[in-house]
Amino acid sequence: MTVRDRVGEFCATYGLSVPILQAPMAGSSPPALARAAASAGAMGGRGVLRDPPERIAQWMTEFGSAGPVQLNIWVPEEPGSPDDERRALAEAFLARFGVPGTPPDRPRPDYRAQLEAMLAARPTVVSSIMGIFDAGYVRRLHDAGIAWFACATTLPEALAAQEAGADAVVAQGTEAGGHRGCFDQDVTAGLDSTLFALVPHIADHLRVPVVAAGGIGDGRGVAAALALGASAVQVGTALLRTPEAGISANWSAALAGAGPEAVTVTRAYTGRTARAVSTAFLREWQRPEAPRPARFPDQLGLVGRWRAGNAPGIEAENYFAGQSAALATTDPAAEVITRMWREASMILA
Ligand SMILES: Cc1cc2nc3c(=O)[nH]c(=O)nc-3n(C[C@H](O)[C@H](O)[C@H](O)COP(=O)(O)O)c2cc1C
Repeated sequence: MTVRDRVGEFCATYGLSVPILQAPMAGSSPPALARAAASAGAMGGRGVLRDPPERIAQWMTEFGSAGPVQLNIWVPEEPGSPDDERRALAEAFLARFGVPGTPPDRPRPDYRAQLEAMLAARPTVVSSIMGIFDAGYVRRLHDAGIAWFACATTLPEALAAQEAGADAVVAQGTEAGGHRGCFDQDVTAGLDSTLFALVPHIADHLRVPVVAAGGIGDGRGVAAALALGASAVQVGTALLRTPEAGISANWSAALAGAGPEAVTVTRAYTGRTARAVSTAFLREWQRPEAPRPARFPDQLGLVGRWRAGNAPGIEAENYFAGQSAALATTDPAAEVITRMWREASMILA
């Protein structure tokens, strides 16, 4: 199948005029960003990780009927036995950054209730990261005419998702900003595959379409990913600095000009592996004498306490970023997407 046919089939199935999905970024995907993406013919998206059910419904109302849209959630890991010793070591290490405070109590929304709210909202796509949905939920999505996209970072994860009924696999390379989609956070060997190697490897073994994610910052990246076997791409970092994304001035400044070597993989923010701009706080955790960060969500809770204390050693928020952050511009999101696809089309022609 030619690239044009493969991409055309995907776009026709999901009502797209450009094969680009705005990444569903928890905490950084306001309705304005998704509407802008949809207005450019791409798919809008929302990461609902922190959203209670009523917020999911409200977000969809605010998105309106702008076009195709994806709602995304982290699949919770099986509760492991508490690791009090690891937590204590991480807590002791944090003392070097200042003194803790008391953060506001923000209970985590109930996962099953979030799943129900996503189903009720009737988006084009519901997607998973860090695991797969149970068979009953997948059946209900399909009965409702909603597609399931599953993020995978390895071929075994992609095959497991396809076997479980995923309609497309989002192949996430290590270049990606934000959290890694690994199903098991404690298995790290081989989980650093680059998009260049991962996309053809997965595409060669799957029946369902592959969406490439990680380090795609302009039309060159889009064209490369499609040439490698993807049917579409998912873009996060390249849209973060757009006015519609609404991130803070500090985060946007940290992204400006940040080349591949300026971002790093860390567990220091949440306990789960993520890619972010390298800061003094993150570098401290990379010192040989630093302990392993506590497990998720222990580390998240600890960092929250130190932030509540306005500890001078920690930036006030997570500066998540992929390896192509330097390509992110402050142009409006629809312009960024339109330009990406125009450049990619010229390359592919
Ligand atoms: C700030 C931020 C938040 C993210 N949150 C999520 C999320 O909640 N769910 C998800 O599946 N992926 C999330 N991602 C990952 C994206 O879906 C995607 O894999 C990544 O942005 C692609 O790499 P890029 O940032 O280099 O474009 C996030 C990425 C960023 C940058």
